[in-house]
Amino acid sequence: MIICKMTQEHLCGVMEVEHNSFTHPWSENSFMDEINKDSSFCYVALQNDTVVGFAVLETVLDEGNLLDIAVDEKHRRQGVARELFKELFKVADEKKLSFITLEVRESSIPAISLYEAHGFEKVGVRKNYYSKPTENAVLMTKYFNL
Ligand SMILES: CC(C)(COP(=O)(O)OP(=O)(O)OC[C@H]1O[C@@H](n2cnc3c(N)ncnc32)[C@H](O)[C@@H]1OP(=O)(O)O)[C@@H](O)C(=O)NCCC(=O)NCCS
Repeated sequence: MIICKMTQEHLCGVMEVEHNSFTHPWSENSFMDEINKDSSFCYVALQNDTVVGFAVLETVLDEGNLLDIAVDEKHRRQGVARELFKELFKVADEKKLSFITLEVRESSIPAISLYEAHGFEKVGVRKNYYSKPTENAVLMTKYFNL
């Protein structure tokens, strides 16, 4: 498996993983917008040239916001997200980010476990933040260089 920067040529595979992972998937244009922003960092995990996962990190000054991360169902629990996080933490180091924050569905136990395993802590809740189905968002943050 290799991790590399997401480009337009990966979008077909990214959209497949996105649609299979979320009830409210991003559009292709949303990914294109992030790819084209200097302040955003988008990575794909490739296995035999096929997209098996991806992550999108937006930065504003010294703040990071993990906007999206997903792994193809057949490739879960094989360390793909862990490899993507290694790349995101390199960005955090290079850009001297103070923290990365994110929102996650309260019922997404795999995602919450993944974040906790990478040092994110629960810092708040947004009531009824998600739709399809309606659900609270848990806010999680990992601080660097404290
Ligand atoms: C969350 C998600 C990205 C994890 O990807 P993954 O490649 O399967 O995760 P990894 O194999 O790298 O797991 C790393 C660690 O995260 C935790 N973890 C991941 N999946 C887990 C699960 N189903 N149950 C419990 N812990 C889990 C474990 O600590 C794991 O380490 P371990 O396997 O050594 O125990 C994947 O399940 C997914 O795409 N889910 C649907 C989309 C989603 O919810 N995205 C997050 C939106 S906020």
